[in-house]
Amino acid sequence: ASNKQGLEGFPKFKVANVSDLSGSCPVYFFAYPLTNEPCFLVDFSKLNNEKDVSFDNPYYGKFRINQSFKEISGVGPNNSICAFSDVCVHLGCQLPAQVLTSSPSNPGLNPSTSILHCPCHGSMYKLDEGGLVVGGPAPRPLPAVILEYDDSTGDIYAVGTNAPYFSEAVPRINPSSNLLYDPRYNGYSVPSNPACIKG
Ligand code: FES
Repeated sequence: ASNKQGLEGFPKFKVANVSDLSGSCPVYFFAYPLTNEPCFLVDFSKLNNEKDVSFDNPYYGKFRINQSFKEISGVGPNNSICAFSDVCVHLGCQLPAQVLTSSPSNPGLNPSTSILHCPCHGSMYKLDEGGLVVGGPAPRPLPAVILEYDDSTGDIYAVGTNAPYFSEAVPRINPSSNLLYDPRYNGYSVPSNPACIKG
């Protein structure tokens, strides 16, 4: 009931090399930190010609882990490569980040606006502003993956995320007894379970 031990950081893991984003495609998929957690790199210099990308971390100060990232900056030769979770924070549909469409009303990733539009219920995330919600029912921004870049090799590493990828939007009981994150509260905690003295 009192076990609050756990990791305070994520593994550092090579997710791609900059050559994987060669050619005209601005998106590259990978899994992090677990093999069933899809994410994607987006190179804004190819998506909408943005270089030296940086945005305020919308989750800054919300979580004990990785709360040092007040800003998130693009990596790579143009400082334009960022990464996000590929799971919609509304009800968990996988996002069609590979679909480039010229129509902002169609699901997919719009190259001119950098808006990623979920096909399930219409949530819209503006990637070049840190995944902020600009439409639909998503209760919070799209989580970003924190990257590091080795300019001697071109390797791109994931070193953390700025928020849980997926959670319910509203706690079922109350914030102090619910493991799930809600954007109205400052984080979550491991609940006690009086029925299990060892767990
Ligand atoms: Fe994406 Fe509902 S799961 S909008």
